[in-house]
Amino acid sequence: MADPTGDNSAKNYHLDRPPVNEGFYVKGAAHLDWGMKNRLARIFRPGSGRTVMLAFDHGYIMGPTAGLERLDLNIPPLIEHVDVLMATRGALKSSIPPTQPKAVCLRINYDATVLFDDLSQGGGIACDIVNAVRMNAGALAVQTFVGAPGEKNSLELLARTVDAGADHGLPTLGVVAVGKNLLRDEKFFLLATRLLAETGAQIVKSYYCPGFERVAAACPVPIVIAGGKKVPENEALGLCHRAVSEGAAGVDMGRNIFQSENPLAMVQAVAKVVHENFTAKEAFQFYQDLAAGGKKRGRKS
Ligand code: 5RP
Repeated sequence: MADPTGDNSAKNYHLDRPPVNEGFYVKGAAHLDWGMKNRLARIFRPGSGRTVMLAFDHGYIMGPTAGLERLDLNIPPLIEHVDVLMATRGALKSSIPPTQPKAVCLRINYDATVLFDDLSQGGGIACDIVNAVRMNAGALAVQTFVGAPGEKNSLELLARTVDAGADHGLPTLGVVAVGKNLLRDEKFFLLATRLLAETGAQIVKSYYCPGFERVAAACPVPIVIAGGKKVPENEALGLCHRAVSEGAAGVDMGRNIFQSENPLAMVQAVAKVVHENFTAKEAFQFYQDLAAGGKKRGRKS
């Protein structure tokens, strides 16, 4: 049996060697079937191999948070600049036109809400596979609470979702939760991201941390990073740049886009970093230029 405390001597991450992909560009996906690969190719752009996912599923825990007061007004203008929409079925069905062309990553679990002191106890299924397929989901998202009271239930839910997704050719995004009592260091993210991938998630959502290069190298499937709480635009773009430079396959970002002073400019700046390798400085300049142009256009002469 493996040493339950982990092998502390793990150290050779071969950072100088790219992942072995065996003919399909999405990390860890070479042995998946056609339908799964086709869905992954709608998530990760074949040109860059990366993705900009727009997360706006916050309401399922927080209610109408800043920037998401009106899903029907806040989200549609951003859609053309992202690759994937990550949301709950209620948000999509009520507020997003079904004619929108982007892939959908459907949040299929519920969790404790902000009314509880500790959100990390986990929850259950909020949308089953039949309804996910009916909604034309391109991927399923499940939140997990590694190292917290909800660990066992959420990992079981992830495993069941991976199974159901595999039956229908849908990849599963395993989301690493961080909470009040959960760590946010390299050691934690090394463990949590690997755990989710080994449980079967074809994509893992996690957070950037110092040492991220090793976290990304040791995770056998693509990692997309969350943005976390709103920070100034130049810092958020810096975070994106560091993450993709150190091996992230893109972002699944919410608050730093929709809470930006100019969400439309910010989403395009994020896409420049993710898909065109803009530096943080270049992207921030791009953001400022777009935002200033928007202001000019909005001005009455
Ligand atoms: C948490 C999530 C959220 O969608 C995610 O955290 C949102 O992204 P951001 O932190 O960038 O607002 O998956 O379960």
